[in-house]
Amino acid sequence: MLRPFAVVALSVLPVLSGGSPWAAECAIDVHADDQVRFDVQSIVVDRRCTTFTVNLFHTGQLDRGVMGHNWVLSRAADLMEVVADGAVAGLDHDYLKPGDPRVIAHTRVVGAGERDSVSFAVAGLEAGGPYLFFCSYPGHSSLMRGTLSVE
Ligand code: CO
Repeated sequence: MLRPFAVVALSVLPVLSGGSPWAAECAIDVHADDQVRFDVQSIVVDRRCTTFTVNLFHTGQLDRGVMGHNWVLSRAADLMEVVADGAVAGLDHDYLKPGDPRVIAHTRVVGAGERDSVSFAVAGLEAGGPYLFFCSYPGHSSLMRGTLSVE
């Protein structure tokens, strides 16, 4: 009767005792201002994370309708179509087609002094890629983009 439990318990030990002594960092702060850019160009997600959180801060002075920024994650190959469909959807839909299955995760569009966060499951990312994060506000994605990988 005890054996199955013992096997399970032993299988947990390497996770607890092995690997890095530091806990995985499972969140990142990303800032954007009135320049069309993010202050982060690449994000490496620790595969030990169950979920990963992106906290987006707009540190500029301009309204979301003028200099809006969101943080959107998709496969690199999907970026162009996500952005094109997002432009049609408009600001009321955070410049994303509602229910777009190509969008893996996204924040709202934020303006001056605003912030938003998004969390997404890490396990589902490992099979695919490469991934890009970007702002889908019209005209921004060519400058506001970066790579995301799981390692
Ligand atoms: Co933007």
